[in-house]
Parts: sequence; C-alpha cells; structure tokens
Amino acid sequence: MTKPRVFVTRIMAQEALDKIAQATEMEVWPEELPPPYEVLLKKARDAEGLATLLSDKIDATLMDAAPKLKVVSNMAVGYDNISVAEATKRHVVVSNTPGVLNETTADLAFTLLMAAARRVVEAANYTSKGQWKTWGPKILLGQDINNATLGIVGLGRIGIEIAKRARGFNMKALYYDEIRRSEEEERQFGVEYVPELAKLLSRADFISVHVPLLPQTHHLIGAAEFASMKPTAVFINTSRGPVVDQRALYEALKSGQIFAAGIDVTEVEPISPDDPLLTLDNIIITPHIASASFSTRKNMALMVAENLLAGLRGQTPPNCVNPEALKG
Ligand code: DGY
Repeated sequence: MTKPRVFVTRIMAQEALDKIAQATEMEVWPEELPPPYEVLLKKARDAEGLATLLSDKIDATLMDAAPKLKVVSNMAVGYDNISVAEATKRHVVVSNTPGVLNETTADLAFTLLMAAARRVVEAANYTSKGQWKTWGPKILLGQDINNATLGIVGLGRIGIEIAKRARGFNMKALYYDEIRRSEEEERQFGVEYVPELAKLLSRADFISVHVPLLPQTHHLIGAAEFASMKPTAVFINTSRGPVVDQRALYEALKSGQIFAAGIDVTEVEPISPDDPLLTLDNIIITPHIASASFSTRKNMALMVAENLLAGLRGQTPPNCVNPEALKG
C-alpha cells in the first residue's frame, strides 16, 4: 500500500519526524527560512498532509492547488496563518498545539515584564559599554513589580499562567475578557474582572496581552488605549503582533506616555531593521521565542505528528480546530 505524502515545512524534533516518517512518504524542508509560497504551492500539490509553522500561509489558493490535502497540522497554538473557513469548505482538518506551551509562554511574558520594568537589557548594555562609573541614587531606576497591579487582557490558558506567576510577587491581578470567568474560577486564579478594557488599562501598572489574532482583536491596543495607561505603565505582548498598533506603541514609548514595553511579536515578522521601535531604549523586543524551550518545542512537535497522523487516517485530530470539516 502506498503511504500518504506529507510535506513538513521545517526541521523539528527528531522524535516527531521519526513518527511521521514511519507512516508516510515524508519530505522535510531543510532550510531555516520558510519555504517561499511558490514552493509551498508546489509541494502541496501531491500532499495529503502538511505540517506547518505560523510563518507558512495556508490559504484558499494553496488548498485549491492541493486536491488530495486532508490535514494541516500547525506547530503553534495560534493558527491565524491558516484560512480555517476555506479548509473546512474543502473538508481539510486543521489542528494546533494548545496546552503544552502555556507555562513556557507565560514564563517569557513574565521575563519581559520584569526585564522591561527593571531596565535589565539597558542596564546590561550600560555595563558592557563601560558606562558604569559609580553607584548612584538615581541611576537606572525602574518600576517595582512587587505589590503592583497587573492587567491581563485575555484570561485564557496563558493568561491564567500569568496570573499564577503574579501571585508570587504579591501583585493584584485584574483581567479583561469578552467572556467573564465564573466566580469560583476568579477565586481560584486570584483575579478580579474589569468589564471595560479602558478601565483595566487605567488601573494597571503592568499590562500583558494574551488574545488570539482575530478580525475583532486587530489593533485592539492602539493610540486611545495607550492614552488610557499610566505614565509608569509597562506593556507586554506575547500574543500576536497585529493585536497592537505598532506605530501607536512607538509614539507612546517615545513621548513617555508609558514607561516601557516588552514584546515578543511584531506586526511584520521579522521586524525591519529600520523600524523606529529599534531606536528606543525603553523597549525589549525578542524574536517570537515565547514557546522556545527545548522540552516545549519537542512536545509541540510530537503533537504536530499525532494530529497529522490522525488526520491522514481520516480521524478528527486530538487538537482539531475545525471538527466540522469531516461532517457532510
Ligand atoms: C503559538 O504557539 O501560537 C506561538 O506564537 C508560537 O509558539
């Protein structure tokens, strides 16, 4: 029996590739940069399965060029790179990798929060550039994390992990979300609901964003939202770049409307080396590494393999985002 053809768009954990290779005719894109769209189109032509990353655009045109395609297994919890509605129409199941990266992503969000508040990167550069001449009462002062108020925008799985970390620093945790949690969950996670985003932003010392990228969350944080924040506020985004109006973020940081920011995602990735944000001292920008720990990336890859193989067998993958694709 011929094995189904599968295209994997990047080298991932060997254990996962071995599982896929056992059951399929697998081809893996060997380069660090994503396959260009034209290459992806060509590779998808005979493929029954694709294992993709968030930098691979899977749209209607691509799926039309791939008549045998059954499953797209994305190595990320976010799947805004995939036209899910178009996949569903074509009975292609799409899956993601939720759960395994919650804590690792929250760890990085908290790292950025602490580093931006206490100016860690700026201070390390100050030392390495030979600017450290003395101890001074006013040198490199930052914001206290302990006992501060944290505003979580989006209390999903990762938002909850942030709330847990905040407890260790005696922070008060507020959250804003479209959907309010039950009173029992609010007690369990130690969070207080604020029904209006602007109110949360004006009360919080730290703001951390944890929403998916959807049409309704595009530029959720823009000029008006930065204007609601305290001048001492520290803003963190580890979700998706386009959730924030990057130009407005620049203006807020440059003018001192807010104190600092730490972001792991940018509107266009990678950020252009000419982007004005890179000229500021009060922002830390990491290259979309929130889930980048050895063990989490391995677990994500294993989930990709499991989802992919289930989809190829005609089953609903364990982490399917459009189970309705197999109906009808
Ligand atoms: C995701 O999973 O969506 C992250 O952005 C990458 O881990």
